[in-house]
Amino acid sequence: MKVLIIGSGGREHAIAQKVSMSPLVDKIFCAPGNAGIAQYAQCIDLPISDFTGLAQFAKKEAIDLTIVGMDDPLVAGVVDVFESHGLRIFGPRKNAAIIEGSKAFSKNLMKKYGIPTAAYETFSSSKDAIDYLREVNYPIVLKADGLALGKGVLICENYEEAVIGVKQIMEEKQFGSAGDCLVVEEFLTGKEVSVLAFCDGKHILPMTSAQDHKRAKDGDQGLNTGGMGTISPSPFYTEDIEAYCMKHIYQPTMDAMRAEGRDFVGILFVGLILTESGPKVLEYNARFGDPEAQVVLPRMKNDLVEVCQACIDGRLDQIKLEFEDNAAVCVILASGGYPEAYKKGYPIRGLENFIGKDDYYVFHAGTKIEGEDIVTNGGRVLGITAKGHDLQDARNKAYEATAWVDFKDKYMRTDIGKLDLQELS
Ligand code: AMP
Ligand code: GLY
Repeated sequence: MKVLIIGSGGREHAIAQKVSMSPLVDKIFCAPGNAGIAQYAQCIDLPISDFTGLAQFAKKEAIDLTIVGMDDPLVAGVVDVFESHGLRIFGPRKNAAIIEGSKAFSKNLMKKYGIPTAAYETFSSSKDAIDYLREVNYPIVLKADGLALGKGVLICENYEEAVIGVKQIMEEKQFGSAGDCLVVEEFLTGKEVSVLAFCDGKHILPMTSAQDHKRAKDGDQGLNTGGMGTISPSPFYTEDIEAYCMKHIYQPTMDAMRAEGRDFVGILFVGLILTESGPKVLEYNARFGDPEAQVVLPRMKNDLVEVCQACIDGRLDQIKLEFEDNAAVCVILASGGYPEAYKKGYPIRGLENFIGKDDYYVFHAGTKIEGEDIVTNGGRVLGITAKGHDLQDARNKAYEATAWVDFKDKYMRTDIGKLDLQELS
């Protein structure tokens, strides 16, 4: 088989690595890919917004299966374009990817079908939103409706802050048209858990859990980022909680999408918060999480390609997912300054230290090949993942391996998984 992967981050590297292990696969392409993905795949320099161009490429190369890593192309309908060319592609169609593309859509879906989530109101006028904010309890959460690179969520401590937030989102359009509509949501507290699940439109198979660390600095301080590190599994996501979520969240979400004529095929990423009154949905995404994929996929025993094929064919009920009985930790090495301004183009040294080391992975996010060197080319540069027999062991190994590579302005959080270990002891 020939497989095409769409995307260029650490998530797509983790997908490419897993696909390369499938006995079904002879050749992998990736658009656009990066320097790490190039070890497994032929990277092709096609703009990922040109769906027709990508589909023509897939036809020309007789690609048997395309896997989409990124959210933007899914929300914009890449799956529909590929299918209209008779190509097999793994991911939700546009009418289902809206579960990530519009927070107002997903909140209304959850309300209609009784899926537990934070109480909320939606607004299309900033005046109405500001009037409403006089009546609410603080803190309160403001969310731009559309895609905003994970930055469209503001937690406001008081009315004055909230008014500024509404103006930034709805009037100044800080997140562009994502702010045409606003969701104002009750602030919840609890442990956050990311659960990625395979879906075939009817059946849903959740993978092992993960926990992201979204803030830039230690102690969950600083700005929100795409994710500075992950652990898997989440020690707080017990079997009882999983069973509750299957019954009240996962299967009901599949059934709701089906009832709406929006059958969801692909990866449903459920962002959960474990509150005192039970697990609730913070958000849905329509693809693998990044860096969640960098801890979940290395622990997966199944052939990823086989599971994707079962999703497309609607026979996920014939698959049994299996994960290793261990733990994984991923520490992101970022460019100093991220998520604000940072420099790129610095050579990365020491990547060869990972060769032949079982249980250690160096996933490339923002890297590119320049002459003889691999250089930094983004905010999140590398994801260093290690597997261990438990969280402590995996954490020790991942941090040990962060010292094997170096580049100018290298920055990482030093406390990925630390709080979890403290709370467990
Ligand atoms: P989202 O993009 O919706 O996942 O939101 C980004 C982050 O904002 C989440 O990971 C949470 O840490 C925080 N957040 C979002 N919604 C809420 C909420 N209702 N209550 C508390 N924190 C929230
Ligand atoms: N790590 C969060 C995300 O992929 O959206």
